[in-house]
Amino acid sequence: MQLELENKVVLVTGGSKGIGRAAALGFLAEGEAVLICARGSEALDETVALAQGVGRGRLIAMQADLTQAEAIKNVVARCREEFGRIDILVNNAGSARPGPFLDISDEDWTEDWTLKFFGYVRMAREVFPHMQQQGSGVMVNIIGTGGLRPIANYMVGGAANAALNHFTKALAAEGAQHGVRVVGINPGPILTERLQKFASVFSQGGGSPEETLRKMTPLGRVGEAEEVADLILFLSSARAAFIHGANITIDGGANPGLMG
Ligand SMILES: NC(=O)c1ccc[n+]([C@@H]2O[C@H](COP(=O)([O-])OP(=O)(O)OC[C@H]3O[C@@H](n4cnc5c(N)ncnc54)[C@H](OP(=O)(O)O)[C@@H]3O)[C@@H](O)[C@H]2O)c1
Repeated sequence: MQLELENKVVLVTGGSKGIGRAAALGFLAEGEAVLICARGSEALDETVALAQGVGRGRLIAMQADLTQAEAIKNVVARCREEFGRIDILVNNAGSARPGPFLDISDEDWTEDWTLKFFGYVRMAREVFPHMQQQGSGVMVNIIGTGGLRPIANYMVGGAANAALNHFTKALAAEGAQHGVRVVGINPGPILTERLQKFASVFSQGGGSPEETLRKMTPLGRVGEAEEVADLILFLSSARAAFIHGANITIDGGANPGLMG
């Protein structure tokens, strides 16, 4: 299958670890120019080292805390300065804490939503005018199945994900007339640093974290970051040109609802 991604410019937020890193390396292998951003320099440097010799694309790593509105503007400006345009935005940097409802304060809700919801909205708003001007572009929001299946212990992230499912569809309605395609991905449990932390919390009721992970899907395993990256690349590609305003679930069958 020819994805026709070569020579495109892609911005991957949270591209230094997990799903974002796997996507960045996947895009590079297809010959794209990629800018990744995240807070920690160590993981950014590690990703740059891993990228050596991968494909013909160029990778730039930038430190940025996307809870800060100004940082979002700087990331987009840098990407345009370096590469002249942005063809694909992967909104991926996000995290929200699990925990009992009564233990989570206003400050906790605000902090997590500032990254996982407003971070996506602000980044999309910063990139949208450039794609509009180009008359083309693809935005892929990495959301999460927590928005499809409400659970008491993951309310902050679940509610943000539900809002992002909505946002993706609403932005798609806006983007259509400007050639901007917008899609969302709802990953289930994917083996990254973040999931390993969660597995320890969720397994506190009994069982090892490994057993907890195995029980998370009917397939008896959790997903790999590269499996989500493959879906990101496909949805960004010319082969997915008719997929618009859709939120696609990738979860090993863990959420068999009619809507996901
Ligand atoms: N893994 C799963 O099971 C799963 C399931 C459903 C949804 N998701 C969603 O998928 C996305 C990626 O998850 P992941 O598991 O790959 O996470 P991860 O391995 O923890 O990686 C998160 C990435 O985001 C960056 N990041 C975190 N906070 C940031 C901030 N304030 N500003 C800029 N960058 C920041 C991290 O780097 P720094 O920490 O150095 O900043 C890292 O590069 C998230 O939106 C998550 O909610 C994941």
